[in-house]
Amino acid sequence: MKAVILAGGFATRLRPLSCTRPKLLFPICNRPLLDWTLERLAKSGVKQVVLAVNYMSEAFIQRYGNSTRGMRLFHSKEEEPLGTGGPIKNAEGLIGHEEPFLALNGDILTNFDHSELMKKHIEKGATATIALYRVEDPSRYGVAELTKENCVVRFVEKPPRKEAPSNLANAGIYVLDPEIFDYIPSGRQVSIEREVFPKLADEGKLYGHDFEGLWIDIGKPEGYLKANRLLLDTEIKKSRLGKSVRMESTVEIKDPTVVGDNVVIEEKSKVGPYAAIGERAILGKGVRVQNSIVFPGVIISDFTSVKGAIIGEDAIIGRRVKVGHGCMIGDHAVIQNNVTLARRVTVCPSRVVSKGVLAPGCLM
Ligand code: GDD
Ligand code: MG
Repeated sequence: MKAVILAGGFATRLRPLSCTRPKLLFPICNRPLLDWTLERLAKSGVKQVVLAVNYMSEAFIQRYGNSTRGMRLFHSKEEEPLGTGGPIKNAEGLIGHEEPFLALNGDILTNFDHSELMKKHIEKGATATIALYRVEDPSRYGVAELTKENCVVRFVEKPPRKEAPSNLANAGIYVLDPEIFDYIPSGRQVSIEREVFPKLADEGKLYGHDFEGLWIDIGKPEGYLKANRLLLDTEIKKSRLGKSVRMESTVEIKDPTVVGDNVVIEEKSKVGPYAAIGERAILGKGVRVQNSIVFPGVIISDFTSVKGAIIGEDAIIGRRVKVGHGCMIGDHAVIQNNVTLARRVTVCPSRVVSKGVLAPGCLM
């Protein structure tokens, strides 16, 4: 099996953290999301992966090179962003016309069985088969209306909630027949969801299969934190400590939590539940971290609390600071002593913050 992973896009909803890394390389339980995806693809029997990249493409080449987990890896680079359909057309030469292939939105964390979808695709002889996931509010997703035979009769991208034909969301996981290349114009931005799927639905060549299990789009801060929680619950379960972690005996680690290599945690700190502490982080005395993602190299000083927040690489958080729900602190930012960032405050990379902020906002 071959797979193409959509790995471009600017991830504006994850700024400022996405200013310095692409969305697929955001750590989840201390490993980039893409590592988890590649691991699943290898298990599903995929032998060749095309990474469709543009924004910060070098970061991917540096991390994965030309092969990983027994799979060959190709980097298909776009000069200009080509949307969600254009990159697939752009990779036509690498994918070839021999057999159906997988196409994946790269910002999804899932335990989906890709080989099952391939089987169903072949059974129906479809041009495209999409995985569907039942959601509460389908207005943030592509939505499909299915017949009993699993044929998609209507596909609408991000409809207003009242107009959604069902609550079956496009999970961003597809099997595509090489015939798909005839449906995607080349050399320009194409949305597969807005331009290609509705047409295939009209022609009766689009099929869908719903599934249950783990599935989440990490594209927004809430989704990113939730993905971390889901993975902690399902994969990590208890707590996992990296190599050379130095911890005082009075430290409490509450399950499930992951602590990376070379982390230092001083006395009476409480970490977890649902914390991911990146490698080389230093947590002072009486620190409290829960339901949060702390990137590598962060310093959190004495008596500070971090709850429901994301702290970027090498940020320095002072003493007696409070970082509350939905806050995102950019890489290398400095939050000075006694500052409270109450909720949904984002801080740009390298910014120094000396005063508290109680309402949601962005500190440039
Ligand atoms: N190569 C490349 N080039 N990749 C891109 C580009 C581009 O120009 N633009 C976006 N991508 C990648 C993103 O990195 C992401 O992995 C994927 O394409 C989907 O783009 P998003 O921007 O995350 O779309 P979305 O989340 O709003 O909606 C999509 O995903 C939903 C499921 O989470 C749609 O496919 C919806 O129909 C779907 O329900
Ligand atoms: Mg997305």
